[in-house]
Parts: sequence; C-alpha cells; structure tokens
Amino acid sequence: MKPLSGALRYRLLRARYLLASLIVLAILAGALFYYYLDARTLLLPYFFLPVTAGAVLSGRIKGLAYALLAIFLVGGPVMFWGSEFLHRGTAHQSDELAALGAWLFLLPVSAFIVGLVSELGGNRLLVLGLGADAMSAVERERKRMAFDIHDGIAQTANTALMQAEVLEMLAEKADPELRSQIRSVRDTASLAVGEIRTMIGQLRPPALSASEFPATLHHLIEDFVERTDIKIEFDLAADLSGHSDSVRICVFRVMQEALSNIQNHAKASRAYVGLNEARGGVFLTIRDDGVGFEVPALNQLLAVTSQSHHGLASMQERVWLLTGRIEIESRPQEGTAIRAFIPRYQA
Ligand SMILES: Nc1ncnc2c1ncn2[C@@H]1O[C@H](COP(=O)(O)OP(=O)(O)OP(=O)(O)O)[C@@H](O)[C@H]1O
Ligand SMILES: [Mg+2]
Repeated sequence: MKPLSGALRYRLLRARYLLASLIVLAILAGALFYYYLDARTLLLPYFFLPVTAGAVLSGRIKGLAYALLAIFLVGGPVMFWGSEFLHRGTAHQSDELAALGAWLFLLPVSAFIVGLVSELGGNRLLVLGLGADAMSAVERERKRMAFDIHDGIAQTANTALMQAEVLEMLAEKADPELRSQIRSVRDTASLAVGEIRTMIGQLRPPALSASEFPATLHHLIEDFVERTDIKIEFDLAADLSGHSDSVRICVFRVMQEALSNIQNHAKASRAYVGLNEARGGVFLTIRDDGVGFEVPALNQLLAVTSQSHHGLASMQERVWLLTGRIEIESRPQEGTAIRAFIPRYQA
C-alpha cells in the first residue's frame, strides 16, 4: 500500500474536520428547531441522523460524543425547566417523558453500535487490503526468485550436465569403472536440472486473469494426474471472475501445496478437489483417502515450520492474510481434508 503523501493526508484531515463541523452544526440546528417547536418530542428522531452519521465516520467514541452533545442540548432545558418544557400543552406530558426516556437510551446505544460496526468493518477491509498487498508482494518476490534461479543456478547445472555428457562420450573406450562413475555424475546432474526446472515452474506465478484462471486450475490438476496414479475428482463450481487476483492466487497456492502434500506424503488412491461459491466468498476443499497424520496444534505450526516443513503453515498464512478461515483435519490412517473459506475481495 502506498504511503499517503503529506498533501493528501492534510486534505483528508481537513475533510474530516469539515465533516465533524457539519455534524456538530446539524445537531445544533436540530436543537434550535427543537426549542422553537411546540410538540418537541416529534423532532427527537431527527438527531439519529447526524449522530449515527458521525459514528460511521469517526467510530464509537466520537459517535458517543455526538450523542452526548445532542442529549445535553435536548435534555438540559428539560432538567432546568421541568417536564412542561417538553410540550406546552399539559395533556401529554407523561407520554412525552416516556418518549424522551426511550430517546435518551437509544441515541447513545445506536451511536455506539453503529460506530463499533463501522470500526470493525473498516478494520476488516483495511486488513484485507493489506493482506492482498502482502500476497501480491510474495508473488512478485517468487517471480524474481524464479528469474534468479533460471539465470543463475539453472544455467550452471545445465553446463555441468553438458560437461558430463561430453565426458561420457570422450570416455567411451575408458575402463568400465570410470565409465560407470561418469554416467552416475551425468545422472545426478540431470536430476538436478529436472528438480530446478520443477522449482522454477512452481515459483512462477500462474496465469491469473479471470478468463485464464479456470484453465490454470485444470492444468494444475492435469499435472498432478500425470505425475501420480491417484484418481482425482475435480469440481470447479465457483466462478472466480468477480474476485481479485489475490483471492485467485490464494486458491491456486493452497491447492498447489495440498496436492503436492498428497503426492509426497499421503499414499492415497483417491482425492477430491472442490471449489464452490459460498456466501461472501469461496469455499475450497481438498481431500484424500491416504495415510493421514497427527495435525499439529495451531500454535505448534510455526515451530514445525522452522523444522523445514513450510507447506501447511504457509497455506494457513495465505488464507489468514485475506481474513479467511482454514481447517486441516486428519488422523493417522483416516485421510486428510483441508477446507478453506476465502472471503470475496475486490481491489
Ligand atoms: N495429505 C497428507 N497426507 C499425509 N500426511 C500429510 C499430508 N499433508 C501433510 N502431511 C504431513 O504433514 C507434514 C507437514 O506438511 P508440510 O506441507 O507443512 O511440510 P512438508 O510437505 O513436509 O515440506 P514442504 O515445506 O516442502 O511443504 C508432512 O511432512 C507430512 O508428514
Ligand atoms: Mg508440503
């Protein structure tokens, strides 16, 4: 997220002061009307407008302050002149007092609740925005690493492989022991080149545009099918075109890590991957019928990470960055299920 420039911050600050002054003016104007009306309690609902607007803009504490200002302006004269002040005729005074009592209670409570909801909503959006930015930063960094590996160590490993191949040709007539040693060097170099290529492929960001994304997911599944003998059912029921890139990255990376865990650890014969629309977001499920494992408690996951198991922890971090929820359910010999809810976010 770009830091706000000084001038912009100053303008925003001025706009806030302007809005606060308008809200105070609206309350004062309401109070003036209130003094000049005969049936004063009829005007009480009006004060909900500026007070709750103030709570939305400035949160619960300032919202409460606006409510107290209105209560002071409206309730002060009643305290001073007694309940006759409420209605110049005397017939309805008890009704008027009851209405005033309800208003005195409801106005600060509404200001507090509206302010709180606005703060929580605002904070959630702020966190979501920061999470999405962090996610893009991680992807940029992965892309840079993929380039670095491609231009650096990948070239070195390729050269080593070519040199080993040349050596093998030159040693065609050498003794069998030497030839077998050279072949094994060539095989190791070839393995290294293969692993580096896979690593570059995994680091590079997938095609994320709304139109390409379903194909990207299908490609991930097809790759998995090619690499393993595991039967997989894929249910792509959600349309992710209304979501931002950060949601699509998150879905892709969680799926990629879960599938690579199934390939490396699960010894499964069947797996299921489902992506469904849910209220306010998408729901991702990846299940296998493999050997399962004892899931570490949440607070142990970071410790596990430091022992060079990063997959599960980074899955969780990605989902949490977008204020989503993730659940890893597994028991030895009972398979594994990962369920994640990722909220809708539009940058
Ligand atoms: N689907 C699964 N089935 C069985 N065991 C699993 C499964 N997923 C994870 N595990 C177990 O949880 C451990 C932690 O997984 P995690 O993905 O965090 O690390 P990792 O796969 O070992 O290493 P990496 O950092 O390369 O992902 C694994 O080592 C494995 O024992
Ligand atoms: Mg893993």
